[in-house]
Amino acid sequence: MNLYRTLLRPMLFRLDAETAHHGTVETCRWLAAVPGVAALSRTILEKQFPILESDVAGLHFENPIGLAAGWDKSGRALRMIDSMGFGFAEIGSVSARPSHGNPRPRLFRLIADQAIIVNYGLPNDGAQVVADRLAAHRPRHPLGVNIVKTNDGLNAPACSDDEILADYERSATLLHRHASYLSLNLSCPNAKGGKDFFAQPGAIARLLERLTPLRIACPVFLKISPRDDPAEHDRVLMECDAFPFVCGFCFNLPGGKPETLALATRRDALNDQPGAVAGKPVEALINRCIAGLYSRMDQRRYVVIGAGGVFTAEDAYLKLRLGASLVQIYTALIYNGPGIVKQICLGLVELMKRDGFESLSQVIGSAHHAATPLQTKSP
Ligand SMILES: Cc1cc2nc3c(=O)[nH]c(=O)nc-3n(C[C@H](O)[C@H](O)[C@H](O)COP(=O)(O)O)c2cc1C
Repeated sequence: MNLYRTLLRPMLFRLDAETAHHGTVETCRWLAAVPGVAALSRTILEKQFPILESDVAGLHFENPIGLAAGWDKSGRALRMIDSMGFGFAEIGSVSARPSHGNPRPRLFRLIADQAIIVNYGLPNDGAQVVADRLAAHRPRHPLGVNIVKTNDGLNAPACSDDEILADYERSATLLHRHASYLSLNLSCPNAKGGKDFFAQPGAIARLLERLTPLRIACPVFLKISPRDDPAEHDRVLMECDAFPFVCGFCFNLPGGKPETLALATRRDALNDQPGAVAGKPVEALINRCIAGLYSRMDQRRYVVIGAGGVFTAEDAYLKLRLGASLVQIYTALIYNGPGIVKQICLGLVELMKRDGFESLSQVIGSAHHAATPLQTKSP
């Protein structure tokens, strides 16, 4: 019996989505401080799978399934997320200054679509507070920190280019020594100053130039817009070329509710639910982006982290086969609970055995050289 789905989820889904989110994070923070609880969680949720171990970007991963950015925005439940069976976790997005994000309500469930609509607008405690929390924590698994430009609110005056770049620079300065990797969120769909700026040719290179003197101590990933466009992939790759500290990419959510997302919910029912869609409806788009970028990038230098609509081992396996070296989940955790991580890992082991793979490195990108390449579902 799945305790989460039968007992916990019905209680959480009675609360509004944001209250349930904060309540869960705070409960995890509090529970991890109770002696024995983190160890008990590890006993239940963690399992070693030697075939799922891999080394990516100089880091060792016990399994390829990670927690995506946005669940623990300010590193409040670090101990617990380290004990939930994940091979790695990413906290954030964290900005140079604390932010309240967008006005409420800003998080909605789309149950028929196994989706969440998110319009948080990057609320977080700010880089200094998060750096202090990280300094007091010794992670057992790689811990990424996702950084983003501060959201000063809907009515804040527009920032200059220099202010945008300085914001990332300050966060990176404070956080890079405490992170296993940094993820630069260049594409938040719900805040000004990020996505529009980095859509301009040359803007990514300007940021990377600005960060070069910091001699960032860990690998750096870029979280970019999910544009299924070879020319856009080439632009991003070209802008990163001269900056060896960039080691890979992840795709963010698309802004709003583009027609390419197959939604079961009627679109006019979503008029009062602003924000981006996460979960099952984005899976096909993100998979096309992963496959497209993987086929164009230098695979000896770059890796892809795949996030978007992963609910099952088959979903994760497909992302790996299309070219992702690591996979993140978020929405599936809301719908299926933390047991899903071990379930996905167990399923991955079975799928690899079925197909005769002996290591993850054989799986990654294998769809591109299979006799009959896998198709990424089109909406
Ligand atoms: C409630 C919520 C908040 C999120 N906040 C962030 C964020 O602060 N920074 C970020 O880079 N991505 C954020 N994301 C995007 C996730 O990291 C992930 O890329 C996306 O949800 C796709 O994965 P999923 O389909 O498994 O949810 C958020 C997603 C959700 C659902």
